[in-house]
Amino acid sequence: MMRILAISGSVRKNSTNTALLRALKANAPVHIHVEILENLRELPIFSQDFEGQKTPQAVIDFAKKVDAADGIVFSCPEYVHAIPGGLKNAIDWLVSRPEIIGKPIALMHASYGGDDLLYSLRKVLDTVSENFNAKIFTQFNLRSMSLQDIQDFFDDPKNAENLRDYLTEFETHILDIQEQLA
Ligand SMILES: Cc1cc2nc3c(=O)[nH]c(=O)nc-3n(C[C@H](O)[C@H](O)[C@H](O)COP(=O)(O)O)c2cc1C
Repeated sequence: MMRILAISGSVRKNSTNTALLRALKANAPVHIHVEILENLRELPIFSQDFEGQKTPQAVIDFAKKVDAADGIVFSCPEYVHAIPGGLKNAIDWLVSRPEIIGKPIALMHASYGGDDLLYSLRKVLDTVSENFNAKIFTQFNLRSMSLQDIQDFFDDPKNAENLRDYLTEFETHILDIQEQLA
């Protein structure tokens, strides 16, 4: 069983980025388990004063999920031409910890546009893991769509197949890295 942790940069209830990750989960083959991380909002604001022994439980739980994953997929909106604070905060907590180092990572995006966000997030992910693969990327124009519209969109076999192809590409990347380490 391969385990993928799917992290949305939006904690909005009707987030199109989270809906995209849910569609990825729904279309994953049986041997790939996709877990959507739902609780980014619970992480306190990063401070070096609360690392080590003082690390908050919510951060420890988050880091455990990252550790247990074979790979991480991020899907994230652009806020004011940048990474939303909640996601950047989560990544800041991971930077001086061991769990994210070398983790296979890929990006998705739920809109066309967001070039500043994608540039900046790629730079951050490239810094935190040498196994971030910027070439494994897919985007769908789901911006402003309702959750029902998004479900209908991925009920179209062509769109569902695009998701499966993306996941297969990421799975191959993960297996290549695991093989190098074996
Ligand atoms: C505070 C805020 C700032 C935003 N800034 C930008 C921006 O700079 N560029 C952009 O393309 N969209 C911007 N947007 C639009 C969001 O990226 C867009 O609505 C996205 O689809 C929201 O993602 P979600 O559906 O996953 O929550 C902004 C939205 C909000 C709420």
